[in-house]
Amino acid sequence: MCGIISYCGKRPAIPILIDGLKRLEYRGYDSAGLSTVDNNKMVTIKTVGKVAKLENKTAGIQNSSTFGIAHTRWATHGKPSEINAHPQSDCTNKISVVHNGIIENYLELREELQKKGHRFKSQTDTEVVAHLIEDNYEDDLEVAILKTVERLVGTFGLAIIHSDFDHRVFIVKRGSPIIIGIGDDEYFAASDSNALAPYTHKMIYLSDDEFAVLNSNKYYIKNMKNQILEKKIEILEEDDYQVDKKGFEHYMLKEIFEQPESIKNAFRGRIIINEGVSKLGGLEPVVDRLKDIKKMIIISCGTSYHAGLVGRYIFESLTELDIEIELASEFRYRRLKLDEDVAVLAISQSGETADTLAAIKEAKRKGALLLGIVNAVGTSIAQITDAGVYNHAGPEIGVASTKIYTSQLVILTLMALFIGRYQSISFSEGNEILCALKKLPDQVKDILKNDNQIKKIASKYSGYNDFLYIGRLYNYPTAMEGALKLKEISYIHAEGYPAGEMKHGPISLIDENFPTIAIVPIDSTYDKMINNVHEIKARNGKILSITNEKAEKIKKLSDDFICVPQTIPILQPILNIIPLQLFAYYVAREKGCDIDKPRNLAKSVTVE
Ligand code: F6R
Repeated sequence: MCGIISYCGKRPAIPILIDGLKRLEYRGYDSAGLSTVDNNKMVTIKTVGKVAKLENKTAGIQNSSTFGIAHTRWATHGKPSEINAHPQSDCTNKISVVHNGIIENYLELREELQKKGHRFKSQTDTEVVAHLIEDNYEDDLEVAILKTVERLVGTFGLAIIHSDFDHRVFIVKRGSPIIIGIGDDEYFAASDSNALAPYTHKMIYLSDDEFAVLNSNKYYIKNMKNQILEKKIEILEEDDYQVDKKGFEHYMLKEIFEQPESIKNAFRGRIIINEGVSKLGGLEPVVDRLKDIKKMIIISCGTSYHAGLVGRYIFESLTELDIEIELASEFRYRRLKLDEDVAVLAISQSGETADTLAAIKEAKRKGALLLGIVNAVGTSIAQITDAGVYNHAGPEIGVASTKIYTSQLVILTLMALFIGRYQSISFSEGNEILCALKKLPDQVKDILKNDNQIKKIASKYSGYNDFLYIGRLYNYPTAMEGALKLKEISYIHAEGYPAGEMKHGPISLIDENFPTIAIVPIDSTYDKMINNVHEIKARNGKILSITNEKAEKIKKLSDDFICVPQTIPILQPILNIIPLQLFAYYVAREKGCDIDKPRNLAKSVTVE
C-alpha cells in the first residue's frame, strides 16, 4: 500500500528519494511521485506505473535540492493517474503533501474549501490537506499544520514541504505508519524501515498524534498541543533488513526456502526443554494478569487470520481458556463483553494492518488485555498492545505471506504452552511439544528437497481453473491458507473448506475439471478424510493429497500425492502448508504471473 519516503540533509535529495521508493515497491502501488524545492520553487514530478519510470523522468533534470518528499500510491480515491498521484498541492503550488491512509471527511472539507475559492485538481482525499494548510496559514506553518490535523477525520501518515521553508520537512502520524530515521546531520521519514536500510539503522517510532519537523541539522517531535516530546531512538539490527533475493527468482521462493531458519528464529532462546516450558520475555510484564485470563479472542486478517484459526485449536488443546477467533474487519461490529478477564490477541506480519489496528483499539477502549504477535518491530500494533512476541523472521517482501505464517504458528504454540504450563499442561506434555518443535527446521528442509517433485505436479495441474482444498481440525485452516496462496498469486479460483462441509454444498461443483487438494495427515481425522476423498472420486474428481509417508490408503486413492514428515498433530499444519506454498508458486510461475506483486494486492494494508 502507499509508501512514503522523505529526506532532509546535505546530499541531493532526488536519488535518495528514488532509491527509497524502490525499497518500498514491495508494498504494492500503481503510481509514484516526488517533490523538492529548487530556487524557492516547488518541483513535482509524477508518473503512473513503476518507480523506474519516475527515475527516467527525473534523469535529465538539474535539481540539487537537498530535501524532499516522495510517494508510491495505491489508489483508493480516484483511479491511478498522474493528477491523482502524490504529491498533491494547494492552489499556489507552494505546499506539497504525500499521504498514506484515508481522510474520511474529505468531501465535506473539499466542499467547504471550494466555497472559499480553492481550486481542486484531483479526485484524491489527500488534496484537501494541502488546501487546508494553505487556508490555515497565516504566519506560522507549524500552527497551520496542527490546525489542519485537528480538522481531519481518518488515518494518515503525512509528509509535507513548503517552498518558502527551506530545509524543512513536516511529518504527522495518526493511525498510518511513518517512522523517522536519524542519520549524521540528515534525517529521513519513511513508511517502514526497509526504505532507510542503507542510510541509517537509528529509528524513532512516532505514536499517533505526533508531529515531527526535520531540518538539515536538527529535528524535533511535538504532540498536537505543540509541546516538544523526548522520544527514544531505537537501533535496528542487520537481520531486520536483508532485502535482496539471494539468487532466488522471486522473493516468495526465497522466503519459502528461508522457513527452516525463520521457524528456528521463532523459538530460538524461547524454550527450556528440560522444564517443558516456553520463555517469552515479551509476556513477562503481564504474566500475573495472564494467569487470571478466562477467555482469549484472536483477531487478524488474511493469512494471519488463518494462523489464528490454527491457533484456536492449539490454545484449546494446551490451555483452559475459552477461545474465540474473529476477522479483525468484523470485530468492531460485534457486541462483545471485553473486561479484564479477556485477552485480545492481534496477529499481524506488518504490524500496520488498518483493520487489525482498528479492532485492537476497540478492544483497548473496553479494557481487555492486549497481546500481539508481530513481525515488523516498533510498528503501530506492537506499540499499542500491552505485551507481545516478535516473530524475528526478517522482512517478508513477497506479497503472499509464507515464512511469517509458519513463524506465527510456532509462536502461537509457544504462547499457548506459556499459559498452559500455569494451568494443567504437565512437564512431559510440554517437553514432548518442545522436542517436536525442535525437529521442525530439519523436517522443513526435507520437504524443500522435494521441490522438483512439487514443481512437476504443479505443472500437471496448472491448466485447471478451479480448485477445492479440504482438511479437518488443525488442517481445515491449512486448506484455507493453501487456497488463498493459489488464488492470490495465480488468479485461479480456489476454495478452502472444512472437509465435512463438502457434502453440504460444494460437492456439487466436483467433476473431472475441478480437482481437490486434500490435506490428509495421519491423525484423528484420517478415516473421515478418506471417506471424503472417496466421495470426490465417486464423482470423477481428481485428488492431489498432502499426507504422510505411512498413509498407504490415501496414497492409493489419490491421483497424486506429496508426503511430508509426521509431527505431533498441533504442529502438523506447519509442515503441511509448505508443499501448498510451493504448489501455488509453481502454478503461478507456469502461468507467467507477477508473483511478488500480484495485481490489486498490497503487502501492508493500511486502509480499512
Ligand atoms: C496473504 C497475505 C495477507 C495478509 C493480511 C494481513 O498472503 O499476506 O492476507 O496476511 O493482509 O496482514 P498482516 O499480517 O500484515 O496484518
